[in-house]
Amino acid sequence: MQSVALYPDGPELCVIEKERPSPEDGEVLIRAFRVGIDGSDRRIAAGEIGGDVPDGEDHLIMGHEAVGVVEDANGTDIDEGTVVAPLVRRPVDENSRFAANKELDMAPPGTFHERGIMGAHGYLSEYFVSDPAYLVEVPESRTEYGFFIEPASILEKSLAQTFTARSAFDWQPESALVLGNGNLGLLALARLETGEEFDRVYCLGRRDRPDRSIDFIEKVGGTYVDSRQTPVAAFTGDYEPVDYVFETTGYPKHAIDAVHTLGPNGVATVQGIPEGSTSFDIDCATFHRELVVNNKALLGVVNSWRPHFDAAAEWLGEVPESILDTLVTGIYGLDEIEEAFADSSETLKSIVSFEQ
Ligand code: BGC
Ligand code: ZN
Repeated sequence: MQSVALYPDGPELCVIEKERPSPEDGEVLIRAFRVGIDGSDRRIAAGEIGGDVPDGEDHLIMGHEAVGVVEDANGTDIDEGTVVAPLVRRPVDENSRFAANKELDMAPPGTFHERGIMGAHGYLSEYFVSDPAYLVEVPESRTEYGFFIEPASILEKSLAQTFTARSAFDWQPESALVLGNGNLGLLALARLETGEEFDRVYCLGRRDRPDRSIDFIEKVGGTYVDSRQTPVAAFTGDYEPVDYVFETTGYPKHAIDAVHTLGPNGVATVQGIPEGSTSFDIDCATFHRELVVNNKALLGVVNSWRPHFDAAAEWLGEVPESILDTLVTGIYGLDEIEEAFADSSETLKSIVSFEQ
């Protein structure tokens, strides 16, 4: 079978021939349909983050946003033919607290691997194996778009944590702001616009019209905010204080700025992961005071688990297919892997398809 592998010396992305994996006891064999490519994949391929090879291997199979079909149930309870999306993390120790509690998304670094990202092979492969405990069923009507469940689950986790953080009182949120118009930002915007939680949703980017991402934002009913005209720090003056911020940029100052765009009782969650270290002059007293006197919350959110995948799968089953279709701007075969990993202003979501 063919797989997309990253060799850390270089690093170099290549399509390799590998033996089809045989499921061990308790594992099933999955045939991949499609795998989404995101910012993490591009940074891994560029040698910027992750990419650690599994123990005893000299390469990492990439890919963490997958949809495929169970081809060999290998005596487990799952039905052959079930279309599934796999969770990303696997425990280093199955008996560890977070693995046993099925809360691996909250586990501290070092206690898990992330398939296709660090320490465990991913899903950019014609076949892969998994314990069915880490598989979520994809709605039948959305098989083609099942790779969106993993990234959409990050937004679902953020929403779950946000609403839990406000559950002690009668929170009545109305508006939301997504920072960033990359593939995660646009997917989040689509989810927030089609969901019940907020009446008004904004999405911040740095693009000139005509532009595909701006067209998408407006098509789903969102408001595009150009950060060159309205820097995040000026957002509340030009628009309104919002109740919820979902950050996807990884721009280091956005965690601070996000808090300033919130109205009273608002919640900001940050998902982007900046590299290295960056210094800014910030008014710490104002930041601290804003948080306290307005009962604001700032949460870091990484990875996602089964409830978030289930929520994402449910949304996927309900959202108009045309929205998902507009987001997918490139479908590539394994012979076009460079193009699949390339990014441009024309790219909203690129995917690799094994069904050519
Ligand atoms: C993935 C998450 C992962 C995170 C950090 C994201 O791209 O979607 O599942 O935890 O990267 O590696
Ligand atoms: Zn990702």
